[in-house]
Amino acid sequence: MSKELQKIYDHSLKNPEKFWQEASKDIFWFKKPTKILNKSNPPFYKWFEDGVTNTCYNALDLHIDQGRGQKTALIYDSPITDSKSKFTYEELRSKVSKFAGALKAQGASKGDRVIIYMPMIPEAVVAMLACARIGAIHSVVFGGFASNELASRIDDSKAKILVTASCGFEPGRTVEYKPLVDEAIKIASHKVEKMILFQRPGHEVKLNAPTEVSWEEVVSNANDADCVEMNSNEFAYILYTSGTTGTPKGIVRDIGGHIVALKWTMKNIYNIEADDIWWSASDIGWIVGHSYIVYAPLFKGCTTVLFEGKPVGTPDAGAFWKIISDYKVKSLFTAPTAFRAIKKEDPEGKFFSKYDLSSFESLFLAGERADPDTIKWAENLLKVPVIDHWWQTETSWAISSNCTGIEMMKTKYGSACKAVPGYDVKIIKPDQTLAKPNEMGDIVVKLPLPPGTFPTLWNADQRYKENYMSNYEGYYQTYDAGHIDDDGYIWIMSRTDDIINVAGHRLSTGAIEEVLSEHQSVAECAVLGIADKLKGQLPIGLVVLKTGVDKENEIISKECVQMVRDKIGPVAAFKVVIVIKRLPKTRSGKILRGTIRKIADGLEYKVPPTIDDPAILIEIKEDLINNKILNND
Ligand code: COA
Ligand code: AMP
Repeated sequence: MSKELQKIYDHSLKNPEKFWQEASKDIFWFKKPTKILNKSNPPFYKWFEDGVTNTCYNALDLHIDQGRGQKTALIYDSPITDSKSKFTYEELRSKVSKFAGALKAQGASKGDRVIIYMPMIPEAVVAMLACARIGAIHSVVFGGFASNELASRIDDSKAKILVTASCGFEPGRTVEYKPLVDEAIKIASHKVEKMILFQRPGHEVKLNAPTEVSWEEVVSNANDADCVEMNSNEFAYILYTSGTTGTPKGIVRDIGGHIVALKWTMKNIYNIEADDIWWSASDIGWIVGHSYIVYAPLFKGCTTVLFEGKPVGTPDAGAFWKIISDYKVKSLFTAPTAFRAIKKEDPEGKFFSKYDLSSFESLFLAGERADPDTIKWAENLLKVPVIDHWWQTETSWAISSNCTGIEMMKTKYGSACKAVPGYDVKIIKPDQTLAKPNEMGDIVVKLPLPPGTFPTLWNADQRYKENYMSNYEGYYQTYDAGHIDDDGYIWIMSRTDDIINVAGHRLSTGAIEEVLSEHQSVAECAVLGIADKLKGQLPIGLVVLKTGVDKENEIISKECVQMVRDKIGPVAAFKVVIVIKRLPKTRSGKILRGTIRKIADGLEYKVPPTIDDPAILIEIKEDLINNKILNND
């Protein structure tokens, strides 16, 4: 680290209050905070508690007040529908304040929850910002989740309004949202009062008044709504993420800290200024989409790109290069999977050579481990720095990264670089002592966490405390394991819970197991993530049938796959279920998932001394070979 970065980092840990008070001066406050950090009730810390502000004001109005209303705020490019549009800050504010007025007219007010279940269209961004404008708490649900998942979010958040669209488009198929939403509303025990549906041109669906209303209609009757003054510690949004069971965790974000931290990251981590064009190729249903498609770039006042398409197939492996070239994008943020997909389709970069990428300065990757091969391939092709950085839904911004706006550090392939100012990252060994450099252990962050991270879980303070803050007193447990090397570089090696990462999407194997257990022929099951060259990991299910079941194994497997698709959604990418005779267990009955995973990945494994019958491992290996999923190539 250069002296400058080291100085900033040390200052952020030694004097967090001064550091973040200084950063807080860069945002708009109706009332500036005087109390910077309240530490009186750990692990519940409060940043900027007497500050009063508004998320939407900071994203839109502030820039217009500063005379930048004609600057492009949002570029929408949808190769999948062949449509494009641009919105200046003024145009976007006008849409947002109208929809905010519409939300109010439909009964939403400060503190009410609004579920947003939409494809990647400008109206989704408008809906998020409109909630922020009136102080409603949005909860965006990724379009690849099925009705059951949507219903569990309706129930947990007790949403008043649900905003959706007539459909989304995936390559080769139209995702009809209305039947999915209808089913979710039927399953949920909490009843939403209104559904507002955006009719995509040419794909209109029938609505059942009075609880179902069209976006166009409510907007045409609405008045503009102004920004509501919000206390810094009120909630901006809930974003549900996979927990270790089927019950998702509602990560909440408070308002003031979120604006301060995210705005700070744009220059310091990403080296983005207000005049730059920024693109995050993710989905608004994920944390990357929340923070870096919508909020951070708009807080910074730059231009953000909203892309409705895929890295390949819409129409080809040149889609990313086309966007960068057409809009003169300075930096792109995406998941390594996207680059693996491009590399697979166009290893020699033939599409790349068709475009002018002279504006392009850096590529940021996160969401899953970036394998060195992919990073090197991207570096070779793009001739710009490729930066792997590590973060989580819980934190909303990077815990470790190259801080390119302060100093460009050298790349160590396979490492997610060093802790970012604000994060005191440590490794704790199984014996609960702090690890020395290069020793493996659980990755933890010393409390208090910096602003912008999660102050609690929605309606679940106790779960927050027990799940994240109790195993290591005074630390936040990230549930990632790895080590820190002699130079302070952090190496993220694996999760320590049953979360797997499929194409940069976080999934709970426990939740998939819960679905499989509901199959009437299944006695017990195990779901594990096995290595996959494209998606990083893929879930597979192993099921043991009840005695006396006479259905064919193939039919049971198909039914299990369909159940997961219906209950969790296509995003689970769950396609393989193998019927086996028995599961390997320890004598105390614990399924040896780690050992099965090693066998499936073709890695060396030790026969655990606690196993009840070692012969089962040989059986499993044969089953995996017979089903052609042994990853030993
Ligand atoms: N709405 C409905 N369905 C969706 C969806 C959405 N928003 N997003 C994905 N799905 C569906 C896909 O259509 C697919 O369905 P299928 O089983 O019928 O084919 C399934 O969910 C799995 O999707 P995905 O894992 O994305 O695989 P894919 O084969 O469609 O695409 C990639 C592969 C690599 C192109 C794609 O995963 C990708 O672009 N990854 C980038 C990762 C990313 O943006 N991560 C976000 C976190 S940073
Ligand atoms: P999510 O909350 O969906 O963003 O997923 C967070 C998890 O993704 C982390 O806990 C890690 O397991 C994984 N992850 C994110 N970024 C990286 C990275 N750069 N390297 C390795 N794993 C990562």
